Amino acid sequence: MTDAKKLFESFTLGNITLDNRVGVAPMTRISATSEGLATDQMKSYYTSFARGGFGLIITEGIYTDDKHSPGYIYQPGIINDEQEQAWKKVVDSVHQAGAKIIAQLMHTGAVVHGNPFNQDSIGPSVVKPKGEKSEIYEGKGPFPTPREATKEEITEVINGFVNVAKRAKSAGFDGIEIHGANGYLLDEFLTDYTYR
Ligand SMILES: Cc1cc2nc3c(=O)[nH]c(=O)nc-3n(C[C@H](O)[C@H](O)[C@H](O)COP(=O)(O)O)c2cc1C
Repeated sequence: MTDAKKLFESFTLGNITLDNRVGVAPMTRISATSEGLATDQMKSYYTSFARGGFGLIITEGIYTDDKHSPGYIYQPGIINDEQEQAWKKVVDSVHQAGAKIIAQLMHTGAVVHGNPFNQDSIGPSVVKPKGEKSEIYEGKGPFPTPREATKEEITEVINGFVNVAKRAKSAGFDGIEIHGANGYLLDEFLTDYTYR
């Protein structure tokens, strides 16, 4: 039988020491402001896991640039000073409650429900995502067919990840996670279909 006690033992993950092996998986929840700022409600949501004893929290997917990375209206970003400061309040509160917190950085690629900056979407190639937008994320109907991203746009995507990784560090996050699953841009490069 597995020894469940191990779950509650401290251990070291890279540069950080966690109180236990119980973590919160990243969950998109579209509760930021329309400017992509983390809110007090989000602070209390994330802090409640820390108070409840989770050793590690991974945030919802955070957008990485003001071009095609957002996938949802009311998704938070960390692309400018204001957004960074808003996340800092969340991070400080989680730290005060005793947990570590990692920022999940995501580029939505073709699987876009809403983007405050651009109407069109980009992907590795012109492949319409299967399935339909989800109503719980205020989406309706089929996904748009993406344009093939240009080389310049790919450079912008990469620079976006670099920029937000630096901002996550200066906001006090304990680490970053690059979202490479669930049909979003990086996953789109790894599969011969686009499916959510
Ligand atoms: C409401 C909801 C939102 C999610 N948002 C994200 C997300 O932003 N990033 C991510 O990597 N996974 C996301 N996921 C996937 C979860 O992190 C997790 O991998 C998935 O629920 C499977 O976990 P399980 O095997 O414990 O059920 C989401 C899942 C749910 C239910």
